[in-house]
Amino acid sequence: MNLLYEQTKALTENEKDLIANLSNISACLNENLDNINWVGFYIMKNNELVLGPFQGKPACIHIPVGKGVCGTCVKERKIQRVEDVHKFPGHIACDCASNSEIVLPIFKNNEVVAVLDIDSPIFNRFSLEDELALKEVADYIGNLF
Ligand code: SME
Repeated sequence: MNLLYEQTKALTENEKDLIANLSNISACLNENLDNINWVGFYIMKNNELVLGPFQGKPACIHIPVGKGVCGTCVKERKIQRVEDVHKFPGHIACDCASNSEIVLPIFKNNEVVAVLDIDSPIFNRFSLEDELALKEVADYIGNLF
């Protein structure tokens, strides 16, 4: 059973407000994932990513498509699981404590509407198993948009 998915669903299934739901999801992920220093959303607006609800230090607000790990995720429409962010060309450092990162696209009607971004101070923090569990969460979140 995917506990993160079950919790995300339980937290949001009776609420329609997007910002409220994304806020609670970021808080829930922050409570349940070990060794992370940032978790949250960037939302597509006017063809760029704009900072959404998150937990962690203040972060950069605008990310162009194709830039950084988040913008690459949108451009390639693919999960980016980065074991060492310092080796990722164009990585955008918001919190200098971050050493690894996973970014998942959120799709609505086959379009990327947002990304879920999680940073860790530990190198290679995110396993393939984490990726598969988080993908179920990200796919569910698409239905909340
Ligand atoms: N590292 C991201 C930027 C967002 S922060 O990690 C919160 C990137 O390279 O797109």
